[in-house]
Parts: sequence; C-alpha cells; structure tokens
Amino acid sequence: MKLSSANINVMVKACRKAAKTIIRDFGEIENLQVSLKGPGDFVTASDKKVEKILIDELQKARPNYSILSEEIGKISNDESFTWIIDPIDGTANFLHGIPHFAISIGLEHDGEIICGIIYDPIKDEMFVAEKGNGSYLNNQRIRVSSRSKLKDCIIFTGGPRHRSKDRELSLKDYNNFSSKVLIPIRKLGSASLDMAYVAAGRCDGFWQRNLNYWDIAAGIILVKESGGFVTDFNGEKGYIQNKTILVTNSKINNEMIEILK
Ligand code: IPD
Ligand code: CA
Ligand code: CA
Repeated sequence: MKLSSANINVMVKACRKAAKTIIRDFGEIENLQVSLKGPGDFVTASDKKVEKILIDELQKARPNYSILSEEIGKISNDESFTWIIDPIDGTANFLHGIPHFAISIGLEHDGEIICGIIYDPIKDEMFVAEKGNGSYLNNQRIRVSSRSKLKDCIIFTGGPRHRSKDRELSLKDYNNFSSKVLIPIRKLGSASLDMAYVAAGRCDGFWQRNLNYWDIAAGIILVKESGGFVTDFNGEKGYIQNKTILVTNSKINNEMIEILK
C-alpha cells in the first residue's frame, strides 16, 4: 500500500532530488567546507545546498506556501500553510562519515502538522505520514511497539549540547532513566530519525530538551499516525513552546512522565 496525496508526492519528489546531492557529498566528505555556526553546531556546505534544492522544489510546486527552514529561517507567504524543513538532521554524524542522518520536512496547516516525511538517504528508508491516512516506511504501514513496561524498553535521547543551559537537567534525566531500563539508553544523533524509529516500533520512547521545530515537525505526525503519543514532559501539548519533548508508543507514556516531572 502506498500513501499518495498531492502534498506527499511533492515532498517525496523534493527529497529524492536533494538526496542525490547528500549521497554524493557524503561520499567525498573530506572535501566539504565546514564552518562553525555556534557552539557544537556545524553547518556544512551540503546543508545549504540541500536546503536550496528542497526549497526550490517545494516552491515550484506550492508557490504560495510559507517556509521555515533551519539555515535560511522564515520565508513568509500564505501563513496558513508552512513547510518546516531540516535539510540534514544529524549533521555531526554526516560530517564524521557516520551513515545516520535524514532530510526532514513537515507541512503545517493552521498551526497543526498535517504531513511529514523523514528520509534517510543512505539506508534508503522513507518514512511518510499524513493526517488521517497513517504512517508508512517505504510504502508499508508502520505501527508503534506494544511494549508496556519501561524496564523492557529501548529508549533514545539526544543532547545536551556543549553549552546548553539545561545541561545539568538533561544529565539528571539521563541518570534517572538509566536506572530504570535494562538496555542502556541510545543516542543516535538525529532527532527526526529517533522519532521515525518510535513510529516504526524500533524504539519505544524518546525524550529530549531544547529541540527546534524543524527537528520534530515531521516526526510529530509520523508518531501520531502510527499510534504513538507526542507531549511535553508534563504530558501536555506545549512541546514546541517549552522545548521539552516526550515521544512514546503510548503504553509507557505515564511511566516516562513520572520520571521527567
Ligand atoms: C541535531 C540532531 C541531534 C539533536 C540536536 C539537533 P542537526 O540536529 O537532531 O540528534 O540531539 O539537538 O540539533 O543540527 O544535526 O540538524
Ligand atoms: Ca536538526
Ligand atoms: Ca540540520
């Protein structure tokens, strides 16, 4: 079965085109020009090239939609539809030759994400979701896992950044969780793929502080449409504003909130 709507087709086409550049650049990583954007936050020439391809493609198909993209920021247009783009999520992996990163695009309509795509070009894994129509990995329907005891779960997180003001809090969260799970906590380095993996049932729960909207936009709809929960650390909807996100298979949600509170 395939998820095929007009907006999804536009997103898939843009991703496939941009992926060619990512794959080529990944193959010659040592030639990439690297500049420092902020503490611990590297931006490569590829990030910008990939972003441009994505924006050109999306604008060609939907000239009136607004855009929020990590490197370029906001392009204002019809405010009721906005593409939320992270051209390469997992740049540090990319830069170090670790084959785990993704293109992430969400489509926001009237404040709600209605479509999402997360594409891992190296593994050729395309995760797509649309409101009301389910989540898919390479055209196969995906569901969250059914594990219900935190102890038996595989849990992901990310951060903290080098100079994060929430560094101590993040380490405290990590410490608390590590005593509750039998399998050590994973940090794979791409928040969008972390969320896609919850949607696909590979991971049971994910939490992180200080993510940006472009890191999570596509993941939100993927997780919801595969039966999972996306909340802030209090179990409420404020994950974009207050920058704490908890993503679960729904079964371990309460147990995780108890630890994060
Ligand atoms: C980063 C990744 C990483 C997360 C960082 C993000 P980037 O995005 O998603 O997993 O821990 O907080 O900034 O910089 O590679 O697009
Ligand atoms: Ca990111
Ligand atoms: Ca990025």
